[in-house]
Amino acid sequence: MPIDFLLHDLGSTQKSQLQEIRVALRSPFFMKRIKIKEVLKTQPAGQTVKVQGWIRTFRNNQFIAINDGSTIHNVQAVAELNSLEEATLKRLTTGACVSVEGELIPSPAKGQAVEIKVKSIDILGDSDAEKFPLQPKKHSLEFLREIAHLRARTNTFGAVMRVRHAMAYGVHKFFNDRGFVYVHTPVITGSDAEGAGAMFKVTTLDINNPARDEHGKIDHQKDFFGRETNLTVSGQLEGETYALALGDIYTFGPTFRAENSNTTRHLAEFWMIEPEMAFYDIHDNMQLATDLLQFLAQYALDNCADDLEFLNKRAQDEEAAKPQEQRSELGLIDRLKFVVENDFQKLSYTEAIDILKNSNPNKKKKFQYLIDSWGVDLQSEHERYLVEKHFKKPVILYNYPKDIKAFYMRQNEDGKTVAAMDVLFPGIGEIIGGSQREERYENLVARIREMNLPEKELWWYLDLRKFGSAPHSGFGLGFERLVQFVTGMTNIRDVIPYPRFPGNAEF
Ligand code: 4AD
Ligand code: MG
Repeated sequence: MPIDFLLHDLGSTQKSQLQEIRVALRSPFFMKRIKIKEVLKTQPAGQTVKVQGWIRTFRNNQFIAINDGSTIHNVQAVAELNSLEEATLKRLTTGACVSVEGELIPSPAKGQAVEIKVKSIDILGDSDAEKFPLQPKKHSLEFLREIAHLRARTNTFGAVMRVRHAMAYGVHKFFNDRGFVYVHTPVITGSDAEGAGAMFKVTTLDINNPARDEHGKIDHQKDFFGRETNLTVSGQLEGETYALALGDIYTFGPTFRAENSNTTRHLAEFWMIEPEMAFYDIHDNMQLATDLLQFLAQYALDNCADDLEFLNKRAQDEEAAKPQEQRSELGLIDRLKFVVENDFQKLSYTEAIDILKNSNPNKKKKFQYLIDSWGVDLQSEHERYLVEKHFKKPVILYNYPKDIKAFYMRQNEDGKTVAAMDVLFPGIGEIIGGSQREERYENLVARIREMNLPEKELWWYLDLRKFGSAPHSGFGLGFERLVQFVTGMTNIRDVIPYPRFPGNAEF
């Protein structure tokens, strides 16, 4: 009590002034707000509390349900009937922001332990009930995407974003606890990590009248960086350089793909977690991927119970609206437990092709892309068949044909396959893609030439294989696909605050 110490040495006027301040500080006007999550856990004992948040509903001129984003649950503030002035009543509308003080009391209502008996209400921000787009009813996810600046005020998006946060924190915890170093790889780069060319260009040249060289070609020497640059598609290549110095590293940042993919699993801007480990082979890599996913599923179960319960119910309602044969057998929470408790099925690409070739949907020509020969790329329908129908558990496919994979993957002895691995999840398909890296200089150069990639620009990447090369591996976990899995949201556009996809960059 520092004030009591002070009081000792003070004259009587100062003393009484200080006492006054002390009393004032205890008065509701100075009261510190308590987050609703805490309020709901507090034992009522005649204390006054102050909460601040947004009105979800106002009923009967009495019952105000307030949410402040700290939890899926609202707190109910109850005003004595006829105690509120007409002018105040009119302003207590869905969406308005209020500061409420009152006594915390046991609630007679079902489903809540406590409520607040209103002493005073301050309206911090009005919300015109006629115009506020979020009415207290169920809105479609498509509609909510159009008002992405307000959708976090719904139960669904509040829950999704809290789970998203928990997963980000869990990722850092997992790697930190294992001694990995978090490396910030650049967002603007000169390289194309995947060699796939689906990149957004970065330039400050005047697009209507760019500088040109003597051949009439755009002259990037006059551009901001003196060269062509793009937004990164992956931090992997730079990550590798740090793994071959620090041992175990990971990146976790935004990545960009200018693919024209309009699916429920693709974004043009998404976040990726990319660990890269020196001295790991493909099997160590698969084990780390398994450990990470199991840890994150358990972390969600342990830390997001309320939100998961809500999302589970939400997913159930959504499932119930589907035809029987499309419904998934496990609920959201059961799926998370399932991932924690079961080994993932490891399977080579070649084995997978055999299973798919002889599968019913292939024989009955139900697949959109029929599997007729070794070497074809797998589509999500095939991945989902393996996971959801055949094995009924997560699958790790490895040793893919080299021709459908990136240049940096380690070439296997058979001359046909590379040490690639993809982790496939129910409802999601590919959640992780990774590989052991080609650490042998000659093999890597040969592959770069075979694939017509810009060898000169990769000089620094090749240097790694010239100076103290080491076997190493890594993978990329799509953060939004992870959040989709944990929240049960079917569209990836609903698990990131402001989704970027072809034709859309609003907000
Ligand atoms: O399989 P990808 O393309 O692998 C890489 O980028 C490697 N450089 C990773 C590495 O080895 N360090 O992408 C990795 C993961 C995919 O499995 C998927 O989960 C996610 O990133 N992903 C996307 N997520 C959302 N939208 C997109 N357009 C995505 N493309 C990939
Ligand atoms: Mg991939």
